[in-house]
Amino acid sequence: MNFIDRGRPIGVFDSGIGGLTVVKRLASTLPNENIVYFGDTARVPYGSKSNSTVIEYSLQDAAFLKTKNVKAIVVACNTASSIAIKSLKQKYDIPIIGMIEPGTEFALRSTKNKKIGIIGTRATIDNKAYSKALKKVDKKLKVFEKACPLFVPLAEEGWVEHKATYEIAEEYLKVLKKKEIDTLILGCTHYPILTKVIQKVIGENVKLIDSGIAAAELVRDEINRIGLLSHSSSLGFVDFFVTDIPKKFKEIAELFLSAPVKEVKKVELEEIWHY
Ligand code: DGL
Repeated sequence: MNFIDRGRPIGVFDSGIGGLTVVKRLASTLPNENIVYFGDTARVPYGSKSNSTVIEYSLQDAAFLKTKNVKAIVVACNTASSIAIKSLKQKYDIPIIGMIEPGTEFALRSTKNKKIGIIGTRATIDNKAYSKALKKVDKKLKVFEKACPLFVPLAEEGWVEHKATYEIAEEYLKVLKKKEIDTLILGCTHYPILTKVIQKVIGENVKLIDSGIAAAELVRDEINRIGLLSHSSSLGFVDFFVTDIPKKFKEIAELFLSAPVKEVKKVELEEIWHY
């Protein structure tokens, strides 16, 4: 492998800003890698759409990233990971890393009492991606699931500690609070933005699983396996592309990444439809 191949960026996509929680983890695990981020902000949320729509959108998102010559694609969206990973892997011969596998492994390492809670979008919960993956490893696990669709707009709005967010979290999580879980999978990449509220409401003794942490390690292993880890000694940069520019994208991205975001480029949906 030559220097140019190693310098190719890692592609990351999500329906909106949620994937930034994964970018943050990638940037600390792989600080010298360049990243191209694609947020489909014009079509968010994916979590309330049908499986066929999620597959169609995910293939278009990945195709856009491929035009940027990415060396791997991180599906930084649990909804897309639950539904479209097979189609993506069939279409591309570069590593495609989803959230379910690393999140599952992380949760299995964390639980002591074998009672695991999972929160995610309606699509992720209905498709039972996490519960199937967990039970495959350990049939005796007790798994409790709850869809929390309103967490996505709250995160997109930047209401990270708003009174309304607390109230909604209380309502969603009250069923899980009764189940004595010791581990809670944040099965949507938007949810780590609301970590403070979720942790407070579910209780400090419950370990929250942010799949992005484990995913970043898997990305490093995968690109190392194909010999494409960057050898650069300078800090990598992130190029941001979105299908609509909500005023808050830059603000929330900066808040969440704790770094200035210079430019967010808009991609026309028309362009995406052609892929
Ligand atoms: N961030 C995404 C996820 O991890 C999806 C949120 C949405 O678009 O509904 O599932």
